[in-house]
Amino acid sequence: MILVTGGAGFIGANFVLDWLAIQDEPVINLDKLTYAGNPETLQSLQGDARHTLVQGDIGNAALVSKLLATHQPRAVINFAAESHVDRSIHGPGEFIQTNIVGTFSLLESVRGYWSALPADQKAAFRFLHVSTDEVYGSLAKDDPAFTESSHIEPNSPYSASKAASDHLVRAWHHTYGLPVLTTNCSNNYGPYHFPEKLIPLMIVNALAGKNLPVYGDGQQIRDWLYVKDHCSAIRRVLEAGRLGEIYNVGGWNEKANLEIVHTVCALLDELRPRADAKPYKDQITYVTDRPGHDRRYAIDARKLERELGWKPAETFDSGIRKTVQWYLDHPEWVAHVQSGAYRDWVQKQYA
Ligand code: NAD
Ligand code: DAU
Repeated sequence: MILVTGGAGFIGANFVLDWLAIQDEPVINLDKLTYAGNPETLQSLQGDARHTLVQGDIGNAALVSKLLATHQPRAVINFAAESHVDRSIHGPGEFIQTNIVGTFSLLESVRGYWSALPADQKAAFRFLHVSTDEVYGSLAKDDPAFTESSHIEPNSPYSASKAASDHLVRAWHHTYGLPVLTTNCSNNYGPYHFPEKLIPLMIVNALAGKNLPVYGDGQQIRDWLYVKDHCSAIRRVLEAGRLGEIYNVGGWNEKANLEIVHTVCALLDELRPRADAKPYKDQITYVTDRPGHDRRYAIDARKLERELGWKPAETFDSGIRKTVQWYLDHPEWVAHVQSGAYRDWVQKQYA
């Protein structure tokens, strides 16, 4: 049995679906079901005794302690977070609450459970914390990629809150001996990605005949990884990672945002041409830049490859094609997540 937090969000849900497709070890899935949590993503697991979705907050110590005592998981994998940089700029409070206070509370609940385990289970237990490359800050054009020993220099309320949570996880290992692992991953993309992040937003807007809003000059660089490769990296680190270590996860796919948008447009031109036969890139609009916008992220994932033999399976070309096709094949999933709350956000951000 494992306990996954945030397993109704983009990466957590992909992780749970992949986990149960590969093996039968059951999953308790604790998710607050914020705007970003979507049980519909997990619909294929309905009636599957191996999966239990519990609506709740990682910061609810009584609930978390009860779940741990009842289900006796051998590992906790913490995906739960507020994850959207733009939202953190409009309202940082939730980010402090969930990413810092929530992680602190979760660590304390887990510590209480873990310290009372019999010696063999105590030794085998793992707490894996899922974090981001954004904690390292921004790179200049020719800087080497982030390694695990790069300075922690977060620039947004989101990345600062994630960096704080990483520090707490580290401290709980060094001070209390909690057997932790931390992964810092680059930008993910793939199925079930909430359409307020760059790639799904572009697909959804393009198909709806809406503008494709590119922040600033569109030359900011991100390092893209197909979500299922992130999930395989997490499984590998859980299985064989050295305690207390950080593992960077990335796909060696640095791309400027504008290049990403052009790629999405070209794929849609091929797979679902516009009725007027004009290219989707005609819908690109340059909008005001994100405040404090990090210019470039790049991950050096050699430690993970060297120590644990992990490599991404997907190239960017194959992953982005699968992703665009997935959105074309799942219009009902998109329609259902475009709730009133989603429309309010789009109105506020792009007004
Ligand atoms: P997401 O926003 O899609 O999902 C987050 C999930 O956490 C949602 O299901 C939400 O309901 C849940 N949640 C939020 N607050 C909670 C709380 N207090 N208690 C319990 N559940 C709560 O995020 P994501 O993109 O799937 O990211 C998952 C994790 O991976 C995050 O920790 C994020 O920082 C990290 N990460 C994301 C990326 C990326 O590109 N998306 C890259 C690297 C790391
Ligand atoms: O690097 C990992 C991080 O990647 C994760 O930790 C975050 O949880 C995840 O949201 C993501 O953060 P980004 O800020 O990089 O992702 P986002 O999709 O919001 O934006 C990607 C880039 O595209 C960024 O440079 C901003 C730009 N952008 C985004 C949106 C939504 C636009 O130009 N226009 C847009 O409308």
